[in-house]
Amino acid sequence: MDTAYKEKVTKILTAAAAAPSGDNSQPWRFVVQDSSIEFYALPEKDNPILNYKEGGTLIALGAALQNAELEARAQGYVPHTVLHEDGSCVAVMELKVGGRLDKTDEFLQKSIFKRHTNRKPYKKVPLSKETRTAILDSFLSERTELDFSLIESRDSMSEVAKALTVMEEVALGNHTLHKLFFENIFWSEKENRSGKQGLYIKTLELPPPAQILFRLLKHWSFAKLFTKIGFSQIVAKTNAQQNAAASALGVITAPHTDRVTYLEIGKALERIWLLATARGLSMQIVTGITFLVRSMENNSAIFSESEKERVRAAYMIIKNHVNQDHEPVLVFRIGVGNEPTAVTYRHRTPDIVFV
Ligand SMILES: Cc1cc2nc3c(=O)[nH]c(=O)nc-3n(C[C@H](O)[C@H](O)[C@H](O)COP(=O)(O)O)c2cc1C
Repeated sequence: MDTAYKEKVTKILTAAAAAPSGDNSQPWRFVVQDSSIEFYALPEKDNPILNYKEGGTLIALGAALQNAELEARAQGYVPHTVLHEDGSCVAVMELKVGGRLDKTDEFLQKSIFKRHTNRKPYKKVPLSKETRTAILDSFLSERTELDFSLIESRDSMSEVAKALTVMEEVALGNHTLHKLFFENIFWSEKENRSGKQGLYIKTLELPPPAQILFRLLKHWSFAKLFTKIGFSQIVAKTNAQQNAAASALGVITAPHTDRVTYLEIGKALERIWLLATARGLSMQIVTGITFLVRSMENNSAIFSESEKERVRAAYMIIKNHVNQDHEPVLVFRIGVGNEPTAVTYRHRTPDIVFV
């Protein structure tokens, strides 16, 4: 492999590694063999309770594939990707010389390193007709079995937003979820700059009084006490108002949840997110409930009957607003928000093995 080719592939995979991942776990490894790139999943990097059927890992890999395909074209290649139904290598991308970006894809590719999660409140303004059409077109551009709902009526948004925050209520009051969440928090800019996996506290955009409380909440005894006096309901209510005040809630649905479906969801999600970024819109994935409802079946002992009932009821509310023949898999909010206070860093060059 010559140096110029290696440099191009490094650019393609640096773009891949700029994709979103649960708690910034970056659950991928790349192996380059001549003209093909193998994408490996590292599910052990993701939350062991919420990562049902490795769905979170695979969605992150799908988003990474989307970025890699766009960057491959920018580097002059035609990427041909095959998604694998099993094995630790989830996809192989073959690079053929002679590709280029069309206008739409160039618009998306330019946003790869500008895309960030924005957890600030968004303005209560509707999507323009043009943006709505562009989002739906971008979703339809990849032919899959997936479906996509944009929930825009204020009443529906309030209902769904309220259902979504059952996640925060349950997570703060459940010892295992509480531990996993707080273990992944970075408390300093230095840790964030290291590019390691984890969530930087400033990206959570907590208002100042909540920041102080949050440091106390990392201690389970405090979290228990706060749950007892109804604090988690206050957090949930605040978050519900924030989610309902976006321009829309987006829900990606699927008829089943196998590996290829999760990868396709990740690809579709990233396309929408890049488009939103290019149009100056902000996004945040708010999908805890759709993962929790599935993972509860495998981790039954960790959850009380009341927690299970609340989570199932919340999931059904989301389901009632989308394609009835499908299951909701990934939910996000989209809207107009001020610049985030802080963004997540990555290692400058991802882990690539050239064979
Ligand atoms: C499958 C998946 C689930 C996620 N779930 C949430 C979520 O429920 N809430 C949230 O705020 N962010 C969620 N995220 C966003 C990640 O935390 C975020 O992508 C990561 O910290 C990297 O930050 P970035 O998006 O700014 O690059 C999720 C990401 C993925 C891929």
